[in-house]
Amino acid sequence: MVKVAIIGTGPCGLSMLRAFEQAEKKGEKIPEIVCFEKQEDWGGLWNYSWRTGSDQYGDPVPNSMYRYLWSNGPKECLEFADYSFDEHFGKPIPSFPPREVLYDYITGRVNKGNLKNKVRFSTSVSKVVYDGNSFEITSHDKKNDKFSKDIFDYVVVSTGHFSVPYIPEYPGMKSFPGRIMHSHDFRDAEEFRGKNVIVLGSSYSAEDVALQCHKYGAKSVTIGYRNNPMGFKWPKGVKEVHYLDKLVGNKAIFKDGHEQEADAIILCSGYLHHFPFLTEDLKLKTRNRLYPPKLYKGVVWQDNHKLLYLGMQDQFHTFNMFDCQAWYARDVIMGKSKIPNSSEIEKDINKWVALEEKLENPDQMIDFQTEYTKELHELSDYPKIDFELIRKHFKEWEHHKVEDIMTYRNKSFSSPVTGSIAPVHHTPWATAMDDSSKVFLNQPKK
Ligand SMILES: Cc1cc2nc3c(=O)[nH]c(=O)nc-3n(C[C@H](O)[C@H](O)[C@H](O)COP(=O)(O)OP(=O)(O)OC[C@H]3O[C@@H](n4cnc5c(N)ncnc54)[C@H](O)[C@@H]3O)c2cc1C
Ligand SMILES: NC(=O)c1ccc[n+]([C@@H]2O[C@H](COP(=O)([O-])OP(=O)(O)OC[C@H]3O[C@@H](n4cnc5c(N)ncnc54)[C@H](OP(=O)(O)O)[C@@H]3O)[C@@H](O)[C@H]2O)c1
Repeated sequence: MVKVAIIGTGPCGLSMLRAFEQAEKKGEKIPEIVCFEKQEDWGGLWNYSWRTGSDQYGDPVPNSMYRYLWSNGPKECLEFADYSFDEHFGKPIPSFPPREVLYDYITGRVNKGNLKNKVRFSTSVSKVVYDGNSFEITSHDKKNDKFSKDIFDYVVVSTGHFSVPYIPEYPGMKSFPGRIMHSHDFRDAEEFRGKNVIVLGSSYSAEDVALQCHKYGAKSVTIGYRNNPMGFKWPKGVKEVHYLDKLVGNKAIFKDGHEQEADAIILCSGYLHHFPFLTEDLKLKTRNRLYPPKLYKGVVWQDNHKLLYLGMQDQFHTFNMFDCQAWYARDVIMGKSKIPNSSEIEKDINKWVALEEKLENPDQMIDFQTEYTKELHELSDYPKIDFELIRKHFKEWEHHKVEDIMTYRNKSFSSPVTGSIAPVHHTPWATAMDDSSKVFLNQPKK
């Protein structure tokens, strides 16, 4: 019997499990599956942990999410085609849920089956070696401190790429008297109440960490961008300046001459694709981009078609794109989808990479990833979902952000699965301080 290893049970690993489950329900004979998950439970980044640094076994903590994190895109854009929000919550809910609500949705779809018995929890994969025929996986059962070796025909890498921080150094950091941290270790904006905070970066973490600190009472927030400013209309108390030049004592001096006293510096400088458990011949090496090279259809490792990666792209689309990838990966593994010859593969990868390199603005990037996801969708029996509506929603969302970065999360969108329209949330995001599911879902009846 074919044996498949899935490494990681974040949203991507869970999509993979679901894809096999759905084939089995249709009467197909599925391979033997073993999932490895280094945390005690599934859900990946959405499974919040207060821990930072390393866990009780000395293993690096993968979690990068924080208290009061809300979805930064409309939930309608990430909805599962085979499990709608309406089905899970029994009613339409607002478009920008907090983390706990999305965690409940993601895990709700897989909790219904018997999938947990396929997962070895608290078990970290430490080595994957291919011998020309099969893979040998070494894993560490952290609770019992026991190493095991198992042989597999296929390996699916779904370990995410927002867990290992990229940490640059600036002159003066060694003698800075305040706190310096990466957004990976950011857990609660309350810590910065009354403080002068410097945020370095110009992407989603910089944007949201800056707004979080502002919302929970920081005295001032100064964002230092490196290449391009985000350029939003920031609320009073938040400003965006050009790149940190150096720190002198507790003073941050920026390239544009701006100076700011600082209590804390939060590096929102992104993450590394990091796969220390893979040998060099199997390892994806890429920056965070929409089409990492060497992956056919964004999934199949060009040099070894028995190795598949999920979710390695920079992401506008998330959960339903991961599903399309997983359904396709399943069909490759089960021999239902044929991989073309190496020159066709090369041509296809090059086509996408060349297109990606020409992208100039968010609208074009949204179009690019929508086209990619639509193409992938055609390759399997993943249920129908309205990607044209999702494309339209993403562009509208981008424009809402430009209009007002403080209010975009108050908007409502329609479902690409059920067509239902989300109610407007009972409290505007800027004043909603409690992010619990109970409070969020307690929408007063009209
Ligand atoms: C701060 C932050 C906020 C985000 N907010 C949003 C949002 O609002 N909306 C959205 O759609 N997306 C958001 N994302 C994007 C996020 O990448 C995806 O939503 C999703 O979590 C990716 O799923 P994944 O399965 O690829 O990776 P992950 O969620 O990272 O899961 C990977 C899993 O692999 C496990 N693992 C890693 N290494 C090993 C190993 N060696 N052995 C065994 N197990 C291992 C980890 O423990 C983890 O459970 C956010 C990301 C970050 C960092
Ligand atoms: N739900 C939410 O609210 C929320 C919150 C946070 C994050 N997220 C998600 O988390 C994921 C990761 O986002 P991310 O912003 O952490 O990573 P990212 O999108 O990869 O962006 C990395 C940023 O780091 C900057 N950078 C790199 N090196 C730097 C240096 N030496 N000095 C200053 N800046 C530097 C880059 O700047 P250049 O552009 O100049 O290269 C870029 O702005 C995304 O999927 C995002 O959607 C979601």
